[in-house]
Amino acid sequence: MNNQNTEKKSRAISNILLHLHPVAVNEESISFTRTFGLGGMAALLIVIQFITGILLRFYYEPFPQKAYDSILILHNNVLFGQLIRNIHHWSGVFLVLIVFLHLIRVFLTGAYQSPRQINWIIGLILFALVIFSNFTGYLLPWDQLAYWAVTVSTSILQYIPLAGNSLREFVISGTEVNAETLIVFYTFHTAVLPILLLLLMAYHFWRVRKSGGVIISRSNEPKKMVPTYPNLVYKEGVVALTLIAVILVFAVFFNAPLLERANPGFSLNPTKAPWYFAGIQELLMHFHPFFAGFLIPLALIVLIAFIPFFKHEEELTGMWFVSEKGKKSAKLSAVFAVAITIILVLLNEYLFNFEAILSWLSPVISNGIIPLLIVLAIIWGFSKYIRRKFKLSFTELVQSLFVLIVTSFVILTLINTFFRGINMQLTFPWNL
Ligand code: HEM
Ligand code: HEM
Repeated sequence: MNNQNTEKKSRAISNILLHLHPVAVNEESISFTRTFGLGGMAALLIVIQFITGILLRFYYEPFPQKAYDSILILHNNVLFGQLIRNIHHWSGVFLVLIVFLHLIRVFLTGAYQSPRQINWIIGLILFALVIFSNFTGYLLPWDQLAYWAVTVSTSILQYIPLAGNSLREFVISGTEVNAETLIVFYTFHTAVLPILLLLLMAYHFWRVRKSGGVIISRSNEPKKMVPTYPNLVYKEGVVALTLIAVILVFAVFFNAPLLERANPGFSLNPTKAPWYFAGIQELLMHFHPFFAGFLIPLALIVLIAFIPFFKHEEELTGMWFVSEKGKKSAKLSAVFAVAITIILVLLNEYLFNFEAILSWLSPVISNGIIPLLIVLAIIWGFSKYIRRKFKLSFTELVQSLFVLIVTSFVILTLINTFFRGINMQLTFPWNL
C-alpha cells in the first residue's frame, strides 16, 4: 500500500515536471558546471518577485502623499511587512546579477549560435524587462533615493538626438517626476511588465526544449541519457533551496533602503542612478552625454544582439571558451580590461580633461570624438596583439572583445558605485 502511494506520488510529480522537462536528459547537460543552474535561478527569483510583489500590493498606495507612509506602515504595523519588502528588494538585486551571469554563461559556452540564436534575442529582451521592472519599482517607495535616482537616470534620455526631450517627458509624464510618473511606473511595474515577463519566459523555455535542451559539447562518444526525475529535479531542488536561503539571510540582516520622504526641492549629493545604470553614469563623467548616454550604449546593445548573426567560421562545440587558446585570450582580455579602465578613468580625472585642455573646440569633438577615437584605437591595437599572439579565429576574437567590453563595464559600475562621493568626486568607499 505504502509502495503504491509513493509510486503514485512520484508519477504525479513527474507529470507536472514533464511540462517543463523531457522524460530523460543527457547526463552531460545536467552537470552543475554546464549551466550553474542560473536560468532556473532567474525563473525562481521572478516567482519570488511575483509572490512578494502581490503581498506588497495589499498595503502599498501609489500616490505621492501616501506612498511613503504606506511603506512606513508596512515596516511598523504589518507582521513581516519589512521582511517581505526586504525579500522583494534583495531578489530584485540578485535577479539582475544572476540574469547577467546567465547571459555570460550562455555566451561563453557558445549557446548563442544556431539553432539558439532566437533565444539569445529573447533573452536580451528578458534582460531589458528585468531592468525595467527594477527601475519602475525603484520609484515606488517615493523617498529621496527613489525620486532623485529616477530624476537623474531619466535625464540621460535628453541626450538622444531630436526626440530626447519629448521622450523624457513621455517616460516621466511631464517635465519632472510627479504624481503621474508614480502611477504610470506603478502600472508598468505591477501589471504590464509582469505579463510581458511571463509570456516571454514561457516562450524562452519552450525554445530551450525545441533546440534539444541545454547545449552540450559535441564528441563522437554516444551520449548517455538519464531519467529527469530524480537526476535533474533533485539538483534543481538543491539550487533552489540554497538560493532561497541566501535571499532570506540577506533579507533578515540587511534592510531595503528608505531615506526621508521625497523632496523635489532638495536634491541628494551625490545623486546616483540605480546601480545597474551606474556604468552609464560613470561613462557620463568621461564622455559628452550624446556619446555616453546614447551612442556607446546603443552601439554595444546592437553589436551584442547581432553576435549570433556574424559570419562565424566554425560551429561552436558547446565547449567553454571555444578552445584552450580562446580561454587564455579571454583571461588576458579580462585582466587588460580591468587595468586599462582604471588607468583611463584616473588619467581623465586628474591629467587629461580634454574639455578643459581643448576648450576652443566644441565639446562634441573634445569630449566626444577624441576620447572615443582613443578608446577605439586601444581596442584595435589590443585585438591585433591577441589575434597574433594566440592565433585566434574570428569567433575567438569576438569572444575576447566581448569579455573586454563586459569587464570594462563592470569596472565602471564598481567605480561609480563605490568610489564616487560628494559632487561625484573620486574617493574611497570608507569616505562615502
Ligand atoms: C521581475 C519582477 C520584479 C522586480 C525586479 C521588482 C523590483 C522591485 C524593486 C527594486 C522595488 C523597490 C523596492 C525597494 O524599495 O527597494 C519594488 C517595489 C515594489 N514592487 Fe516590485 N518587482 C517585481 C515584480 C513585482 C510584481 C509582480 C509586483 C506586484 C504585482 C510588485 C509590486 C511592488 C510594490 C507594490 C512595490 C512597492 C513597495 C516597496 O517599495 O517595497 N513587484 N519592486
Ligand atoms: C528572465 C531572464 C531569463 C530566464 C528566466 C532564463 C531562463 C533560462 C533557462 C531556465 C534556461 C535553461 C537552463 C540554463 O541555461 O540555465 C535558459 C537557457 C538559455 N537562455 Fe535564458 N533566461 C533568461 C535570460 C536570458 C538572457 C539574458 C539570455 C542571453 C541574452 C538568455 C539566453 C539563453 C539561451 C541562448 C539559452 C539556451 C542555452 C543552451 O542551450 O545552453 N537567457 N534560460
